[in-house]
Amino acid sequence: MRPRIEVIPENANKYFSFNILSPSTTFSHFDCGISEYNDYLVKDALRSMNDHIAFTLLLAERTTDKIAAYMSLIMDAIKLSLTEKELHNLKYPFHTIPAMKVAKLAVDRSFSEKYRGIGTFMITSAERFAWACNKTYCAARFLTVDADIEHDKGVIAFYEKNGFIPNTELYNKNRKTISMRKDIYS
Ligand SMILES: CC(C)(COP(=O)(O)OP(=O)(O)OC[C@H]1O[C@@H](n2cnc3c(N)ncnc32)[C@H](O)[C@@H]1OP(=O)(O)O)[C@@H](O)C(=O)NCCC(=O)NCCS
Repeated sequence: MRPRIEVIPENANKYFSFNILSPSTTFSHFDCGISEYNDYLVKDALRSMNDHIAFTLLLAERTTDKIAAYMSLIMDAIKLSLTEKELHNLKYPFHTIPAMKVAKLAVDRSFSEKYRGIGTFMITSAERFAWACNKTYCAARFLTVDADIEHDKGVIAFYEKNGFIPNTELYNKNRKTISMRKDIYS
């Protein structure tokens, strides 16, 4: 068996390209293992894009043109406690700090036979998009996500490996999601 290719920013462009979801996007059979996320891409992502509810980016494999992963980005804001403000050195007289949210993220399972690290690459890319945004039009200090533990409790480990920390105030056993954040300038 061939070793899997690790997708990192330095080689990603060789294998993949980012495309913005559009009416002309052709969907190959996308399967991340969770039907809700598969259905969202095909049924709701474009409408959300047209209504300016979520901006969806597709990662397409260059050789096959198949969608390996997608993510939907939105603007966000998070409240920080006094302690958190001190931790991030953000001593401002207001509680709410701007963020960019990864509202949806999914990787097609069939790509994990050939590649590893696609999900991580998507997070790294979201971070880069936020940095670019900060240099041009709009400020965002954090990346945020509502980690979907209803479908997969392990997803928290994925986000923690990518530098996110859970918002412990919102952590209780009845939640379907855990709010997580990453300071993209720490
Ligand atoms: C979660 C998801 C995006 C991760 O993508 P991926 O390409 O498998 O992730 P990576 O290969 O970059 O994984 C990075 C690390 O996180 C770990 N990881 C990834 N998904 C994990 C999970 N579900 N549970 C536990 N660990 C996980 C990997 O083992 C890897 O660890 P390592 O670096 O020690 O080897 C993907 O599994 C997916 O699409 N899941 C279904 C949809 C979903 O749950 N989306 C998130 C909703 S909030």
